[in-house]
Amino acid sequence: MDFGLKNRLSRIIKPATGKTVMLAVDHGYFQGPTTGLRDIRSTITPLIPHADCLFITRGMLRNCVEPANDTSVCLRVSGGPSILGELSNEDITTSMEEAIRLDSSGVGMSIFVGAPNEDRTISNLGRLVNEAQRYGMPVLAITAVGKDMARDARYLGLASRIAAEIGAHIVKTYYCEDFYKVVEGCPVPIVMAGGKKMPEREALQMTFNAISEGASGVDMGRNIFQSDNPVGMINAIRAVVHNGASVDEAFDIYESSKKQPAEI
Ligand code: 5RP
Repeated sequence: MDFGLKNRLSRIIKPATGKTVMLAVDHGYFQGPTTGLRDIRSTITPLIPHADCLFITRGMLRNCVEPANDTSVCLRVSGGPSILGELSNEDITTSMEEAIRLDSSGVGMSIFVGAPNEDRTISNLGRLVNEAQRYGMPVLAITAVGKDMARDARYLGLASRIAAEIGAHIVKTYYCEDFYKVVEGCPVPIVMAGGKKMPEREALQMTFNAISEGASGVDMGRNIFQSDNPVGMINAIRAVVHNGASVDEAFDIYESSKKQPAEI
């Protein structure tokens, strides 16, 4: 692996622990101003210092993130359909030149295995990896799940393995029963997406399970920014991912930071 690729990867997956806490705030690329991200700037500004990497589109990065910060960026570079259309009808929307100009440490796109345009999204991943290899840019592939698809180890294992076979450097997928089987079949680091908002303790339990079963971290959105205590929640997740905290210890971090007076 060359220096550029390794160096960029180390800004996403932290060498000290081999893990990452990515904050996913790209949802608007097909959902528009979704709950928690309507005023994206005010939601994410206090969270950015607590994330290892921000997963975001170029539009929101340019307009809503202060450039002077230490958190790396992984740029969402696919899109096309809105929530009203056929979601698998995605293409690459953002060039590699733009990703480099924006100082990205990685680029990410979705593949839609089992959906109407599965073949096109997988070939797009191949093309993105070909281009990314030229510039030492890591590619994160997301195993997007269509409305009718089961989120089980067989399906997510299939999609994750295909992403790795095509050349993704990191795979983002969902948690499921027997998650360790998904990890076993995928030789590149897996980060867990959080999915729909759930009670904080459950989200921490899911994070704990994923890390115990071999995940290299999380790329989580709604369970952080839709929480009643987003900063407490991201710090609780950090404790599980980077410090091996138990669910009780992490929940305590989430709860106790609610009681602290706001900084002036
Ligand atoms: C949307 C995405 C999101 O980044 C991913 O789903 C993580 O966010 P959440 O934890 O809210 O599921 O790729 O397509």
